[in-house]
Amino acid sequence: MSIPPVIEWCDGAVHILDQRRLPDVVEVLRCRDVVDVCDAIRGLAIRGAPALGVTAAYAIALGARNIEASTEEDFLQQLGLVIDVVVATRPTAVNLPWAAQRMRETALSKSGAGVDAMRHSLVESALAIAADNEQRHQALARAGVDLFRSGDRVLHHCNTGRLATAASVGTALGVIQVAHERHGIDVIVSETRPLLQGGRLTSWELAQANIPFTLITDSMSADLMRRGEITAVIVGADRIAANGDVANKIGTYAHAVAARSHGLPFYVAAPRSTIDCDVPTGAAIPIEERAPEEVRGYSDWRWAPADTPVMNPAFDVTPHDLITAIVTDCGVYRPPFAELCRVDEMSKAPTG
Ligand code: MRU
Repeated sequence: MSIPPVIEWCDGAVHILDQRRLPDVVEVLRCRDVVDVCDAIRGLAIRGAPALGVTAAYAIALGARNIEASTEEDFLQQLGLVIDVVVATRPTAVNLPWAAQRMRETALSKSGAGVDAMRHSLVESALAIAADNEQRHQALARAGVDLFRSGDRVLHHCNTGRLATAASVGTALGVIQVAHERHGIDVIVSETRPLLQGGRLTSWELAQANIPFTLITDSMSADLMRRGEITAVIVGADRIAANGDVANKIGTYAHAVAARSHGLPFYVAAPRSTIDCDVPTGAAIPIEERAPEEVRGYSDWRWAPADTPVMNPAFDVTPHDLITAIVTDCGVYRPPFAELCRVDEMSKAPTG
């Protein structure tokens, strides 16, 4: 089966592979305006922090096409409103505001050239963000290869594959893929309640890549660690604070605590665009609270009484002292992670 791109700019529309229907149904949404793209983001048709960065850029370029403005000032003012709407769709992944800031700078850099030039530059900028995203993930996948050895059995949480990055490789799954090619490793996939990104999406991607894996429920990980069935953990990230605290899919923290308790390494893989140097610690990372229906049941099946009180934080924060290393497109950072934000983002590379 040929799989469509995760997201694509097509003649003034954005095509999004609908991840809600995977793995059974492969369907592409055609988003004609920024509202369609925002609905796709909120509804999780597209998800995963790096993919959301690319999506935000395309959404802003699409929104800019429909702005009616005769002056640059008016255009920039309306563009600001479009950006605010896009960034507000999902609050935790920093990749949305990261991409939005680049789009804003692009428009401003065309001051004096006219509204049409600004509009055109925004499309070019969104395509450049997508190309940069591809390069970053290829570098990231290679950077973590030596963290693993032949015979390792690695626990992975949520989905961090190409579906989550909109690149040809994933973050944590990208590292796993290269490590599997080099050393031959095996994967334990946690299903990732409540929305089952591990069970539905990671299982599907690993099967396509012919990487051996076994699916478990989230609550099994500590027991498997105690029994020696897991040798390491690797996850992605939605936002990394300056001190190395990591916000990622709910359940990540529990795996990290269990890994520490069993003396196992706990790795995080993310592009540098996921590091938020304006946020000093994980306590300042906004955590998205999602609809209670997602916990009371799944899809059309509700198993809890309709009015059952629910908590549904989509992400948690793993403190930096539980993290063995952070793998990025610029190399591997190790504790105390002081270098994460020491110099400018583009030139930064770990020395340790
Ligand atoms: O709610 P989601 O599916 O967008 O959450 C995704 C995750 O938490 C991923 O682990 C994270 O974005 C890293 S993806 C490369």
